[in-house]
Amino acid sequence: MASTPLTDNPIFRRLQTRHAETCSTTMRAQFASEPNRFQQFSMQAAGLTLDYSKNRIDRVTLDLLLDLARERDVEGHRHKLFAGEKINTTEQRAVLHTALRAPAGQTFVLDGQDVDTDVQAVLTRMQVFSEQVRSGAWTGRDGRAITDIVNIGIGGSYLGPKMVCQALRTFAHPRLTCHFVSNVDGHDLAAVLARVEPATTLFIIASKTFATAETMMNARSARSWFLQGGSNSDLAKHFVAVSTNLAGVTDFGINPANMFPFWDWVGGRYSIWSAIGLSVAVLVGFPAFRAFLDGAHQMDKHFQEAPLERNMPVLLAMLGVWYRNFHGSSSVSIAPYHQDLSLFAGYLQQLDMESNGKHVSAAGEPLTTASGPVIWGDTGTNGQHAYFQLLHQGSDLIPIDFIAVLGASHTLPGHQAALLANCFAQAEAFMRGKTADEVRTDLAEQGLDAARVEALMPHKTFPGNRPSNMVLMEALTPATLGALVALYEHKVFVQGVIWGINSFDQWGVELGKVLAKSIAQELTGAAQPAQHDSSTNALIALAKAALEHQPIAPD
Ligand code: F6P
Repeated sequence: MASTPLTDNPIFRRLQTRHAETCSTTMRAQFASEPNRFQQFSMQAAGLTLDYSKNRIDRVTLDLLLDLARERDVEGHRHKLFAGEKINTTEQRAVLHTALRAPAGQTFVLDGQDVDTDVQAVLTRMQVFSEQVRSGAWTGRDGRAITDIVNIGIGGSYLGPKMVCQALRTFAHPRLTCHFVSNVDGHDLAAVLARVEPATTLFIIASKTFATAETMMNARSARSWFLQGGSNSDLAKHFVAVSTNLAGVTDFGINPANMFPFWDWVGGRYSIWSAIGLSVAVLVGFPAFRAFLDGAHQMDKHFQEAPLERNMPVLLAMLGVWYRNFHGSSSVSIAPYHQDLSLFAGYLQQLDMESNGKHVSAAGEPLTTASGPVIWGDTGTNGQHAYFQLLHQGSDLIPIDFIAVLGASHTLPGHQAALLANCFAQAEAFMRGKTADEVRTDLAEQGLDAARVEALMPHKTFPGNRPSNMVLMEALTPATLGALVALYEHKVFVQGVIWGINSFDQWGVELGKVLAKSIAQELTGAAQPAQHDSSTNALIALAKAALEHQPIAPD
């Protein structure tokens, strides 16, 4: 990764000047004077259309942003990513999730070995297993077919499978329900266990490390719940694992034949493409899972081959850099106008914030610019009635990514047109705003007197000039979903290159994990109280008293 401070880069400085030169330009005026703005600033790739015309850019600014991408050697870093170089330098790991979704036979060399054979072997096992569960050939302890799948995992071992199962729910097998348990809060597991029957439930213990405290506690509790009415010999029919840790899986009591492996070169937040997607393959079927991989591969090819100025992930990334580093935007809102994408913003939170939430460069030097923004959002139209007010009239400039799906999988008349109308109207309103004169005219036409018009005018004025992207697809299918996820993965990668950071480690989550372990021992009486601050000491004392009558966790 680049080690020269971004702020010393002459193109970065030129962009600072460009920001000052253009900050009073309005998109409304640009649209009025450039009739082909949509044609100029939109593109298609891998089944997705990106309309980026409602951004505070012109050709000059965009060219400068692309020059910055070239200067920071996005192309060279992209080559290293696909070539399996160990670009995750702090963990000395390659980052090869793209190998998981390439068609069979494509070579991905890591440490002199092609990983494709291993990848295809696991995919074949996933195919066989998912077909057995779906057909009913895989039975539970009393011979009945599986009806419920409980995926126990957290972070990337949870967010990806859950988001994709939700997004593709129209493709789900009618007999199967997928449940997801992630939180160490027992309310999560207890609620799921109350809804399922042990004899027809399949647990997928999904953990790259098979050591994550939350997952292991949930897995142990699920196992002891299951064993209340069954024996150890039944476990093989009801517990499978997805992990890189064979010893951990075996120690837990899961038959190695029931383990679906993956590898340390698959980051947790990129693991949906690996066997971590097992619940997806079972729920929607292997052909649909394969189509999801293929859609992502189409985006990989586009990202690898398209010139930067026609490269969707690069454009999305550089627009994000424009707002983050030059307009001072500290967050990005994600607004999917499709209910089945209701978990998409949450998924992107881990992808983006765990990747680029860093304060030092890959070389360990303090960054001289802001890095990853806060990612948040909810589906449209729900968000419109919650937080869009702040997006329209609040004091912060928050860029928005709208994700719109033209076709619906339901047949309810009128809904789809209403949904899309809202989506497009919001994007237009953010761009245009409403001027004081327009407000005055409106209010006068409603018959309000001059004093009332002036009193209301500031409240009803919209500044506008608020940027958004529109990512559009014909239908939400496994392939378009795959392309969409890969689009954001590559966007995050490009931004990491611009900021000069290692986007593939996540040391920031470690400190809390270590402290939680020692406090947990104090709470259960297994360790003497340590010296904390007075606040933490008081909270521990309160909790200890409350926990005295709670049951002890199973081993
Ligand atoms: O704590 C963060 C993290 O390491 C994530 O990056 C990862 O997705 C998650 O924990 C779960 O890890 P595992 O799959 O090893 O249980």
